[in-house]
Order: sequence, then C-alpha cells, then structure tokens
Amino acid sequence: RNLSFSIRAGETTALTGPSGSGKTTILNMILDLNPPTQGMIAVDGRDLATIDRSSWLKLLSVSGQDVELMEGTVLDNIRFRRDIPDEDIRWAADVACATEFIEDLPYGFDEWLGDEAIRLSGGQRQRIGLARALASRPQILILDEATSALDEETEMRVFSAIKQDAGRTLIVVSHRPAVARLMKNQIDLRPPAAIAKLR
Ligand SMILES: Nc1ncnc2c1ncn2[C@@H]1O[C@H](COP(=O)(O)OP(=O)(O)OP(=O)(O)O)[C@@H](O)[C@H]1O
Ligand SMILES: [Mg+2]
Repeated sequence: RNLSFSIRAGETTALTGPSGSGKTTILNMILDLNPPTQGMIAVDGRDLATIDRSSWLKLLSVSGQDVELMEGTVLDNIRFRRDIPDEDIRWAADVACATEFIEDLPYGFDEWLGDEAIRLSGGQRQRIGLARALASRPQILILDEATSALDEETEMRVFSAIKQDAGRTLIVVSHRPAVARLMKNQIDLRPPAAIAKLR
C-alpha cells in the first residue's frame, strides 16, 4: 500500500525488507504474473498492462532460491531448451562461479543430473540456476534470494562478476546487508516508522 519507487535501467537495485513484506510479490508483478490491485507498474512511462507480454518477458531473466533441475546434462540444465550457443553457456557458468565445481564432476559439463544422478548441494544448484538465468544475456536480471545457499565469499565473487558485465538492469532481493550494499540503489519495504526507530 502507498508504495512508489523507480528502478533505473542499467543500474543495480536491492529490494530489501522483512520476510512477508512483499518483495517476491513485487517481483511477480514486474514479471507480469499478477497485476497490482491498485496503481500501476510503468515501463518507460507506459503501463505494463498495455505492453505485449511476450516481448516484455524476453527482456527478463529470473532466478530464485529453489532451482528445479531437469533430467539431462549440466549443459542441458543451463541451456534449458533454448537456442543458446555453447560459448554463452560456458560464459554464464563462469560468471555464476559454477565452472569451478562443474569441472570437478566426473564428466564435467556432460555430467548427468536427475533423479538417479549426482546430488548437487543447495549452493551448487543455485549456481546452475544463476547460470541458466544469465545464459540468455538478459537486459534485466532479477535475483530473488538466488544466492542464499552460497558462502559469503563465493556470493561476493558472483556479484562482482555479474556487475562486471555492465549495462544490465539488476534487481536483487537479499536478506544479507553486504549484498544490498553492493547495489547502487536500495528500496526498503519496511514501513517508515520502523526505519525511523532504527536511527
Ligand atoms: N493480493 C494480495 N492481497 C493480500 N495479501 C497478499 C496479496 N499478495 C500477496 N499477499 C501476501 O503478502 C505477503 C508478502 O509475501 P511475499 O512473498 O511477497 O514476501 P517476501 O518479502 O518475498 O518474503 P520472504 O523474504 O519471506 O521471501 C504474503 O503474506 C502474501 O500472502
Ligand atoms: Mg520472497
């Protein structure tokens, strides 16, 4: 309610606030999954509701806390049935700090992932998900707790690699203040009274 903010194109923005404050709900509205009940979301001043959905979604990539792996190789899992050249997959795996553990798997990028296959850790799955989101080289990258299972050192390396690929709009939800501080802008969903109390 009564929330208004801008996310600037080509800049990095953190969306922070306590559990249940509406971060994922806002991302879902940006992803055009549910419309706001009041007010509107505008893209370059134009109501998102009037913009062609598929051309809008082509600009976006999203990764979250839980990553569903599909039956297939590591390469298949990053490509995710899209027409993406191998070199872009490798680049995305590098940026996501995934190459370092993939190359340690017995079959590397050809390792089979699935029910009967090698069990990846939570942080490894998240890095596959991140590489999947990066591989299409999206204009707008949305990360909702997408690195929550990583250790702090790896998480920082991931974000510095993502930020090096400049020009992209990055929207990051994270409960870790160190991650939020890496972003140029911060949108805090706590009510103003709660923020005032902390000062
Ligand atoms: N249209 C709606 N009307 C009323 N309540 C809603 C509506 N949409 C979402 N909510 C509620 O708002 C809350 C916001 O949840 P949301 O998942 O966005 O929080 P979050 O900030 O992402 O939390 P977390 O940090 O735990 O992921 C939830 O309790 C949800 O049920
Ligand atoms: Mg959430």
